[in-house]
Parts: sequence; structure tokens; C-alpha cells
Amino acid sequence: MPTHPLIAILPGDGIGPEVVREAVACLRDVLPDAGFEEAPVGGASYDLHGTPLTQDTLALAQRADAVLLGAVGGPKWEPLDYSVRPERALLGLREALGLYANLRPAIVYPALADASSLKREIVEGIDLLVVRELTGGIYFGRPRGVHVENGERVGINTERYCESEIRRIAVCGFEIARRRKKRLTSVDKANVLEATELWRDVVTQVGKDYPDVALSHIYVDNCAMQLVRDPRQFDVIVTTNLFGDILSDEAAMLTGSIGMLPSASLAGLGGRGGLYEPVHGSAPDIAGQGKANPLATILSAALLLRYSLSKEAEARRIEEAVARVLDAGLRTLDLLPREKRAGTTLVGTEEMGARVRKEMKNL
Ligand code: IPM
Ligand code: MG
Repeated sequence: MPTHPLIAILPGDGIGPEVVREAVACLRDVLPDAGFEEAPVGGASYDLHGTPLTQDTLALAQRADAVLLGAVGGPKWEPLDYSVRPERALLGLREALGLYANLRPAIVYPALADASSLKREIVEGIDLLVVRELTGGIYFGRPRGVHVENGERVGINTERYCESEIRRIAVCGFEIARRRKKRLTSVDKANVLEATELWRDVVTQVGKDYPDVALSHIYVDNCAMQLVRDPRQFDVIVTTNLFGDILSDEAAMLTGSIGMLPSASLAGLGGRGGLYEPVHGSAPDIAGQGKANPLATILSAALLLRYSLSKEAEARRIEEAVARVLDAGLRTLDLLPREKRAGTTLVGTEEMGARVRKEMKNL
């Protein structure tokens, strides 16, 4: 890894800037030699330049050793044409950087088991990882669009996967499963959709190279149900772009708050670059009020250290510090159950970040 890594910082919209600020402060503490360069993205970029992703921002992301992104979007930009909506920046970055592997871990911290909408005995100890294919499938397939046919509008999107796209994400899933509990669940809808019948076939083939990993297949509807019935049966889940979008939000909610969930988008394991962002959105309703939970972004910074800079010890320091502040009872608003629980203290974004950094120093 480079001695002076360059990290692109794209704060984006809504609560993006406030949560990113805390994560960057954590990164600065563990990476004294890194360079940090900031650029606008999403609605913030649209307001300045009329496009959610400028060539400059894209070039910075391509040059950087890793990208940390806050969030994009908000009601202000919803009336805009689809082609310049803030979300296009995310899709543009994923496509241009070839970030086909999206890792979304869902971990239930013991201190937060009561914040879940499910019972403690169902969620306690959840530690699962959704590996979502991110640059293919129905998000990018052609033909697409809305046209007029026989005097009415027809909307079309196309689920499309070629073998090589399935193979590389399957390899990612198996490699990660091998480092964890050696259990991989592949999610498809092979009973109805041919594209995912192919998915099942290719994943099974790749599995022959990983005899030490137990592979199972499950239909997406059943998976959605099993996730709320008995989520601990899962370790690593590998799935398509659209199914992964949906299931990762469901998995996120099991943990009590989407405010805790980090993500990594990679051009394969061991590849250069990588984009790291919290799974929660821009939360425009609480933006600028100092209430947002910075932990998902701080945990995304830990993933950045692990996957793009090979700094496992530093990644663990951040993760352990987060566990400690939660054990100490610190909670942002999103983590407080309806009735305020004894032994917890409500804190804002800045204080949460500062406490994590204080714990990091003690580790
Ligand atoms: C996500 C988001 C994005 C997606 C949107 C904002 C384009 O929901 O990262 O999960 O659908 O991929
Ligand atoms: Mg989503």
C-alpha cells in the first residue's frame, strides 16, 4: 500500500457532511501520512455545477486510493430530471470505478439488541454480511426506459447477467465466506427468472473450487422471510443488484438502526480503490442539526482501512472503540428505543465522534 495514501472525501448531501467530518477525524488519527481531498457530489454538486458528478470529482475518485462518501439526495432535488438526480452520481461512480462488489455487514452490538424491532432473542449475536452485485442486473440492463406503444406508456427494465459477472461476484462471496464461518447462501429467483437460473448455475460451478464452504441456494422471497424469522442462520449472503438492495435494507433494520451500517464497494477483493459509505441515506429531516449518528460512516472508514489500505489493526481499533462507546451507554437519537432506557446518554454527532476517538486512543 502507498506510504502516502490519497483519500477522496465526498460528503454529499443532507447529513453527509456532518457524519463524514467525524469519520475523517478518525482516519486522520490513524493515518497521519494520508492526504485528504474533498469534492462535491450529488445534489451539492448539482447546485454548484448543474451535474451530480463532475469530471473533476470523478477524476479525484479514480486517482484516490479510496473514496469515503456521505450520502446523496434529498427532497430539494426530487423534481429534477432522472439524468441529473443526485442518485445518478452514486451509480456513475460505481460504474466508472468498476465497483461490482458491495459488502454490507449487519452486526448486532450486544448493547443495542433492544433497539431492534425484533425480539432480543431473535437478533442477539447477528453477524451477517450481504455481498451484493453492484454494476449489473436490472440497474444497468438494456433495453430500458419508458416509451409509447399502442397509445399508452410502457416502462421497461432488463435483468441481465453474463457468466463472467456472476462468476466474479460469486468468487468474492466464497473468498469472504472462507475467511468467516464458511457458509454461503446464494439468493435468486430461479423458479421464475432465467437470468437468475443462470446465476444459480454459475454460483454452483464456482462452488466446486470451494469445497470447504457450505453453499446453499434460497429464493429471494423465502430469504426475506427467513431474515426476520431466524436471521442467525445466515453468515454470508451473495445476491444480485436488486435483491441485494432490498435484502440489505432488511438486514440493516434487524440491527436496530440503519444508522449503524457501513458498506464497502469494491472492484474485487484486493483491487485498488474502493468506495465506502454508510447505508443510511441523507436523512434530510435531521440534516444540519447535529443529531445524526456518525457510527455507520466511522465504521465505513474502518472498512476502508481494512479493504483498501490493508490496515487490519487500525480497522479493528475503530470497530472496538465503537463497541466501547455503545457499551458505555452513549446513544444518538436513532439508537434510543421509544422509552429512554436507564443507563444510556443521548449525544449528538460531534460528541459521538469525539468519544470514539477518545476510546481509540485508549486502545
Ligand atoms: C443503495 C441505494 C441506492 C441503490 C440508490 C440511492 C441508487 O438504495 O445504495 O442501496 O439502489 O443502490
Ligand atoms: Mg438501497
